[in-house]
Formats: sequence, C-alpha cells, structure tokens
Amino acid sequence: MATMLSVQDLHVSYGAIKAVQGISFTINEGEIVTLIGANGAGKSTTLNTIAGLLKPESGSIEFLGESLVGVQAHRIVERGIALCPEGRRVFMQMTVAENLDMGGYTRKESENREELARIYDHFPRLKERRNQIAGTLSGGEQQMLAMGRALMSKPRLLMLDEPSMGLAPILVQEIFEIIKALHEQGTTILLVEQNAQMALSIADRAYVLETGTISMSGEARALLNDDRVRKAYLGG
Ligand SMILES: Nc1ncnc2c1ncn2[C@@H]1O[C@H](COP(=O)(O)OP(=O)(O)OP(=O)(O)O)[C@@H](O)[C@H]1O
Ligand SMILES: [Mg+2]
Repeated sequence: MATMLSVQDLHVSYGAIKAVQGISFTINEGEIVTLIGANGAGKSTTLNTIAGLLKPESGSIEFLGESLVGVQAHRIVERGIALCPEGRRVFMQMTVAENLDMGGYTRKESENREELARIYDHFPRLKERRNQIAGTLSGGEQQMLAMGRALMSKPRLLMLDEPSMGLAPILVQEIFEIIKALHEQGTTILLVEQNAQMALSIADRAYVLETGTISMSGEARALLNDDRVRKAYLGG
C-alpha cells in the first residue's frame, strides 16, 4: 500500500505550551487510521496542523509525496485533505444547503452539484432539511452536516475530529456506519476519537497519543485486545 500521509517528528506549541512533542505516523492509501487519547493529548492540535490551521514548530508533513508545511489551509483542501472539526462548527445562521456550498468553495459548480447529490444519498436527513437553518438542527444532524461539508471538497483524505462527541448511542452507531460507507467508497480516513471502542472497531491501525507523544501503535484489532489499552481507554 502506498503511503498517503507521512508525519515525522512533529512538534507544535501554543506559546510555552508544548502540545505535540515529536510524533511520527503514517497513513496508507485506503486505510482508516485512528488517533486515540485522553483530553489534552494533542489530537486536535495534530489534525489542525495537518489542515494548515496551525504552524508546526518543527517536523515534516508530507501528503502524496509533497510537503504541506507552510502551505495555506485552502490550498491543502485543494490538494485533497478535508477536516471535519471538533465541535462541528457549522455555520449556524446558514441553511443546510448553504453550509454544504461553503464546503465546495475550492471547486467548480458543476462538480459540486454531483458531489451534493452523493452527499444527500449518504445523508437523506440533510436532503429533507436542506432549507433548514443549521442552528436548529439536532446535534447528530449538525455532525452529519459538518461531515457533508467536509466531503464537498471531494477529499482523498478525510480527517474527522471526534465525530461521535455528545451523541446518543444510536446516532454514534449511525455516524460510524456512514464512516464505514465512505471508506468503502474509497476515502482514506484519519479518525480522532475518545470513543476508543468504536474507533478501534472500525480502524485498520491506531496510534495512542499521551501528552503529546505516541505511546503505542499497531493494528487496531490488536490494540483493542491490549491490556494497557483496555485499562486506560476501554474501561478495563
Ligand atoms: N489555543 C490554545 N492555546 C493554548 N493551549 C492550547 C490551545 N489549544 C490547545 N491547547 C493545549 O494543547 C494541549 C493539546 O490540546 P488538544 O486540543 O490538541 O487536545 P485533544 O487531544 O484534542 O483533547 P480533547 O480530547 O479534549 O479534544 C492541551 O494541553 C491544551 O490545553
Ligand atoms: Mg480535541
């Protein structure tokens, strides 16, 4: 399998706070890779840095063989990486359809129409509610909208930051089914989750992040059965 994303010895700080302290990981084309870890481990910082929203202090990030360091966020979207951020961050005052339009801003209108149809297939609920103001959607619907908006750029790599946060179990299940379907249709996925059980169940490989460093990595299935992982992240 070809390496799609390669992060090497990445360091990211907020002033004096060292959030990411020398992590290295790779994602191969076609994989679902998950980063799990407790609050404050540096998961979002890592995704935001790959997306070009934060500047690394040092280290390299290569996507399809080209460096992303110093590349502007919208150019990174054009190169094929989309971030569905933590907390969804949909445009509350805009309709569902307008939010989705925003996700396609780097692309041609004709291409966006095709993509929109595909997204409405994945998320029939968004189609029904396409003229509804996003701020009035339920939490689960807002998550679907945030995912749909990220998909509008037709990413080769979709980064999802805690898609299950705050959702009822039935909706968590639904979101994970959608992630699986997107993956089956060829999207490579980097999934950040606190729901380690669900994340490890669908991922190919996983990295465990602890206070800015990677403490464990391997096949997701092996980590799911690892005693240390079970104790720390799976409630024993
Ligand atoms: N804007 C910021 N300014 C200062 N420190 C920050 C900022 N954002 C994050 N941090 C710090 O960086 C560290 C990593 O935060 P990050 O948000 O990446 O963690 P996380 O693994 O995503 O956590 P969570 O599971 O709670 O979302 C934390 O110690 C956090 O307090
Ligand atoms: Mg986070």
